[in-house]
Amino acid sequence: MSTDAGKERGVDNMDEIISFAKRKGFVFPGSEIYGGMAGIYDFGPLGVELLNNIKKAWWKANVYDKRNYYGIDSAIFKDPRVWEASGHTKSFNDPMVECRSCNARLRVDKELEKVGVNADEKMSEDKLQELFDEYKHKIKCVKCGSNDFGKVRAFNLLAQSNLGDFTGTNENPAYLPGEACQGIYLNFKNVVDSMHAQIPFGVAQIGKAFRNEISPRNFLFRTREFEQADTQFFVKPHENEKEYERIKKERWDWYVNELGINENKLRWKRHDNLVFYAKDAWDIEYDFPSYGFGEIEGIHDRSDYDLTVHSRASGVDLRYTDQETGEKYIPWILETSAGLGRVFLAVLCDAYTKDILDGKERTVLKLKKNLAPIKVAVLPLLKNKPELVSKAEEVFDLLLRETNAIFDISGSIGKRYRKQDEIGTPHCVTVDFDTLKDNSVTLRDRDTGEQIRAHIEDLPKMLK
Ligand code: GAP
Repeated sequence: MSTDAGKERGVDNMDEIISFAKRKGFVFPGSEIYGGMAGIYDFGPLGVELLNNIKKAWWKANVYDKRNYYGIDSAIFKDPRVWEASGHTKSFNDPMVECRSCNARLRVDKELEKVGVNADEKMSEDKLQELFDEYKHKIKCVKCGSNDFGKVRAFNLLAQSNLGDFTGTNENPAYLPGEACQGIYLNFKNVVDSMHAQIPFGVAQIGKAFRNEISPRNFLFRTREFEQADTQFFVKPHENEKEYERIKKERWDWYVNELGINENKLRWKRHDNLVFYAKDAWDIEYDFPSYGFGEIEGIHDRSDYDLTVHSRASGVDLRYTDQETGEKYIPWILETSAGLGRVFLAVLCDAYTKDILDGKERTVLKLKKNLAPIKVAVLPLLKNKPELVSKAEEVFDLLLRETNAIFDISGSIGKRYRKQDEIGTPHCVTVDFDTLKDNSVTLRDRDTGEQIRAHIEDLPKMLK
């Protein structure tokens, strides 16, 4: 068995990933049998395993491996006043123009980017209007091709529900969370009181977020429903800078060491135009095929903004009392917020490889073993030999108790190996005629194609 490492190549076209993800059960378009729903996706049988493995790696790094971080899981729905106080009902906006011919709505910054103008959704409305007026002659409506547009307006991204409204007026809509982290601020005092948490400490949470994106696009990159893996680290006022550098380094290292992402595909980007709650903001970006570099995680210095606004609006004193000095203060917050759909997409693109094994090209998903959706496939050499099939079923039962294993009987053994390589299964176990004599099997490695003989009873230990 030999791979030709020099001939290894990744993917340069996102359409290939999108079709692979659907064909192999990673990601399906949401509500597909009704024609699909813009910006909504479902994770399939292999996708949910990969997503859960990413979450497990994240939770381990941000809760279990840390002395002073606590995990929580807050409710999706919150008192409507939360979103008033946080500033989202007023300031959580994207710049939009409406086409006067067909009423289609366009994201101003994105349309400007398309005609080569460097624009940003966080620029002021006036600045965007000025740029839009200057370059409008080059912009056409994506729907009808017209060039007749209204004024640049702010479009609020919060999605509303009528939960708890029995009047039919929905005057105080229960919003869906525009960012998952608000649940952490609401529980800051509860965590301090129940866990005797002492500053500095962090709170971690994985939660859903919803945004009424004007034009969802680029597969999992810009969706209307997604998950965020957030940490909020509470520090003494002005003690943010040293911790900020530590946190930034930890987050970068997590992508490289724990998710196995190629470091050359990552870069830092500092925000020039800050979102309303941030004092400083850095993004980790990944170089996606077709789309180029895009943010996968934001790391923000939120100063005392969040606890101050919630203290004021709720009337509850959210100051922290220093155990030793008795000093009271509103803690400052350093946030890390990773979009799990984007991280999932980066992991998938990064692992997707074409190489040559034994003189033939194959597709292999070179995922880190802890991320692989299926850890081992058990394969009887021939499907028409009942004694092989029944021995293989015995091995399968043994491995199922240990790990996520599957049984595959269809097609030639070579084809079955390639099928497992394509979905990233690190090992295949083949039961053949020697197995019936000496209880040994062939254990094959995904990346090198190398095969060794192993005793069935040693498999659980070897696979760990
Ligand atoms: N609490 C901070 C916050 O929400 P953000 O930069 O707006 O900050 C954090 O979002 C992360 O959420 C981004 O880095 C990105 O990975 C993800 N994200 C944001 N909008 C998204 C969208 N429409 N679709 C998918 N992921 C998105």
